[in-house]
Amino acid sequence: MDLKGKVKTSFSILNCDFYNLSEQLIQAEQAKVDMLHLDIMDGHFVPNLSIGPQVVSSLRKRFDLFFDVHLMVDNPDSLVDSFIDSGADLITVHAEVSPHLQRTLSYIKDCGKKAGVALNPSTPLCCLENVMGQLDLIMIMTVNPGFGGQEFIPGMVDKISRTAELIKDYRTKYDKKKLIEIEVDGGIDLKTAARVVSAGATVLVMGTALCNSGDIAGYLNQVRETL
Ligand code: DX5
Ligand code: ZN
Repeated sequence: MDLKGKVKTSFSILNCDFYNLSEQLIQAEQAKVDMLHLDIMDGHFVPNLSIGPQVVSSLRKRFDLFFDVHLMVDNPDSLVDSFIDSGADLITVHAEVSPHLQRTLSYIKDCGKKAGVALNPSTPLCCLENVMGQLDLIMIMTVNPGFGGQEFIPGMVDKISRTAELIKDYRTKYDKKKLIEIEVDGGIDLKTAARVVSAGATVLVMGTALCNSGDIAGYLNQVRETL
């Protein structure tokens, strides 16, 4: 099946050369990426630090892309407002640190933004069963979060297929019109993109592969050809 055009791409800036950030973002914009993936890390939930709302706000002033904010923090509820104010279009929180997931997602939706849930590789899909109605996106982590440039975990392909089944069942039983994207994050490149898309992924986060390619548009076109 030709899936070109249906699969979205989200450019992660985590492993960019920050000295030349704007240059790489302009390249990504020209390459027609669909989203900008902004990884927010607090040094607690994941063993690394990254950017905060001020950086997101500065980028918002210049780039018209869809802002896909991935919160890898211990207490996402305390940061949702700042990222909404700084220009997020979608906020994804981790299920592992969201005891009141239904409330968190409803709050994001009530603010007029898209809401997503991310699952670490070891987190089972069953924690999503009771929040499907609030979800716009499920993010399957295909690496353990915290760093760019890690190796894709092959066992996650089956989890992506099961996520697609979960969405299909929800649509059949409750809401035929409900659209939930499946985003995959970590180690997506020329070798892994087609496998995750065949399993049901609809949004590909790509950071390291694009940044290291030296030609974001050329690399993305090559990836699109494999789908
Ligand atoms: C990892 C981050 C990813 C990362 C993407 O914790 O959430 O978004 O930047 O992975 P790579 O660098 O492999 O494309
Ligand atoms: Zn991410």
